[in-house]
Amino acid sequence: MAMKFRNGIAEPTRRDLLLISTVATGVAGAFAATVPLISQMNPDASAVASGGPIDIGLGEVEPGSQIVVMWQKKPVFVTFRTNKILARLQDNALVAQLADPDSLNFQQPVYAKNWHRSLTPEIGVYVGVCTHLGCIPQFHPSADSDDLPEDWRGGYFCACHGSKYDLAGRVFSDVPAPFNLPVPPHRFVNDTTIRIGENPKGAHFDFGSILQL
Ligand code: FES
Repeated sequence: MAMKFRNGIAEPTRRDLLLISTVATGVAGAFAATVPLISQMNPDASAVASGGPIDIGLGEVEPGSQIVVMWQKKPVFVTFRTNKILARLQDNALVAQLADPDSLNFQQPVYAKNWHRSLTPEIGVYVGVCTHLGCIPQFHPSADSDDLPEDWRGGYFCACHGSKYDLAGRVFSDVPAPFNLPVPPHRFVNDTTIRIGENPKGAHFDFGSILQL
């Protein structure tokens, strides 16, 4: 089943989302333990090297997973959120723990300034660089490790100094990281491809102008 598009913004037609993966050479190993790759298509090497937009092919993937791709030498998390995760993101108890739940700080384009910080609720796209000192937060959609905080209910955990983000990249208020994870420009180009590094038609967002990477 495919998504529908309106002004370049995806409107999912089902919850069992599709997706894909391209992980740049040399980075795949670093994420292999935490990123289940369902399928993989090779991005154009020159596109990756130049830092230009990269296309990610869509394929079947289990809801609740994420993939990691490289864009402008930065890891980009592409997450696939289930109904349960989406409900959790709207839980008032969670929202009360966040530093910037409404994305007031300029860390994302206008089209991702919403409760799910993305074009469409089921898919999130975030630059995976901790806004504290630049470590790479790890994806833990559930309390799947003894190293996580006791009350962990899913999100990104940066083990460097203990910063926590929810699954929309929103930072918790009691951690060293000051800002939400950045959202890169991205758009759906068709039913089976997402392009990172390019805004939807009519949208204007300069990633270099965000508050903090
Ligand atoms: Fe992530 Fe310090 S770099 S908590």
